[in-house]
Amino acid sequence: MENLNINWFPGHMAKTRRELQEKLKLIDLVIELRDARIPDSSANPMLNSLIGEKNKLIILCKSDMADPVQTKKFINEYEAGGAFALDVDLVGGKNCNLIKPYIKKASASIIERRQKKGIINKEIKIMVVGIPNVGKSTFINKIAGKKSLNTGNKPGVTKNSNIWIKINNEFLLLDTPGILWPKFESNDVALRLALCGSIKDELLPIRELTVFGIGYLKEYYPDLLKARYRLESLENTEDIIAEIGKNRGCLRKGGEIDYEKVYKAFLQDVKNAKIGAISYDRREG
Ligand code: G4P
Repeated sequence: MENLNINWFPGHMAKTRRELQEKLKLIDLVIELRDARIPDSSANPMLNSLIGEKNKLIILCKSDMADPVQTKKFINEYEAGGAFALDVDLVGGKNCNLIKPYIKKASASIIERRQKKGIINKEIKIMVVGIPNVGKSTFINKIAGKKSLNTGNKPGVTKNSNIWIKINNEFLLLDTPGILWPKFESNDVALRLALCGSIKDELLPIRELTVFGIGYLKEYYPDLLKARYRLESLENTEDIIAEIGKNRGCLRKGGEIDYEKVYKAFLQDVKNAKIGAISYDRREG
């Protein structure tokens, strides 16, 4: 495939980075959200250099849509590298009860450092960052809860100032997340981001995206692909596309297959994890 050459608003990128750098000056702990289906592709290449020595917690969101075997491998890898990492399903609730304990774990060294300097009872300031649509707002709502105090939301606080949400008396969470730009280091990364709905699939040629998705599923999740569309054979991608068309009723009046419709139906299924719990970045072994 030719280079897809996607640019994610390069102008915005510089501004986003500047704003993020400013906010990070206030922050003790960064919570980086990634999509559990694409832990590599949904990471931001520049984040670690922006964060520097600050403490970090990696949260893999949408674990309900990802292959649990793969998710475990990624979590193990992060932990082996000394990072704190947790996978969560923010909608179904799986592991959400562990988020606050993990925040505590990830900030323990800050509290220890402060204690040595005689600083006690100072709140840990937290910021959530991640690429668009990864689950940042859902995450903030989940941990802020209804009873949390919106400490900055008082008369006299100007609109542009930061609003902090108080959690457990120990933590202050910035109510606006940092939006990171995804990395487009290769066509494959862009395709994976599009399959998971992290970038608009209109940005990419829809047929190529479908062929890539089918190729990937054929290789790694053949049984799920077969089961979803009642396919007998996975030999020929064109035949598979035609079968999906028949299965999903993407036909024109004369019974001819409406290919545009097939691509859209298939990509919708992938994005909504209708084919199954599938990971599009993976670790072998
Ligand atoms: P953002 O602030 O990072 O942009 O993301 P946001 O919280 O708005 O979440 C984007 C979509 O992802 C939402 O669906 C949300 O419900 C869904 N989502 C977030 N976390 C999880 C998770 O752990 N599991 C599942 N299954 N879904 C999750 P939405 O409002 O329906 O938006 P969309 O899907 O139409 O984009």
